[in-house]
Amino acid sequence: MKTLIVYYSRTKITANVAKILKKKFGSDIEEIKDVKNRSGRIGWIKSCLDAIRGVSSEIKPIEKDPSEYDTVIIGTPVWASTMASPILTYITENKEKFNDIAFFCTCGHGGYEETLAKMEKISAKKPLETLFLTKSDINAYDDKLGSYTNKIKSRLE
Ligand SMILES: Cc1cc2nc3c(=O)[nH]c(=O)nc-3n(C[C@H](O)[C@H](O)[C@H](O)COP(=O)(O)O)c2cc1C
Repeated sequence: MKTLIVYYSRTKITANVAKILKKKFGSDIEEIKDVKNRSGRIGWIKSCLDAIRGVSSEIKPIEKDPSEYDTVIIGTPVWASTMASPILTYITENKEKFNDIAFFCTCGHGGYEETLAKMEKISAKKPLETLFLTKSDINAYDDKLGSYTNKIKSRLE
């Protein structure tokens, strides 16, 4: 089973989760990098506006071809109850290339249901599994990530 973890992360929370999943799956990993500077308070506001308007943002060229993987697991932070704009771009540009997919998102406290539903809608594909991690889940990462990983693996057997 060839698996690819794809993620975008502004402040490294989603990145940390993606790296744990990479170890659990023994998979390749791809970080989506966008062109826009999103650091600081101004970056936060720009990101919020992009998410609310549903605009995709220009991303740097990707290195891994998703069609070469049996499963692509896509992770995003929640921005204004939807996915981060660079992930919107990635899914939109690559949805024809996905075989099986799964999603995860990290957030402060909410907006994850809308985010995961939007990811499914944009990709036009039902994910094998979905996972959300809120700030208060931080101590339950192991449990939630373990169960998410096992469920995906068992679906692919
Ligand atoms: C522009 C913006 C909008 C956000 N909107 C939400 C939200 O609607 N709900 C929520 O619970 N957290 C929201 N957050 C918090 C992030 O989802 C959360 O901190 C996430 O884990 C950050 O992941 P990262 O470090 O990988 O960027 C928002 C953060 C940003 C920057």
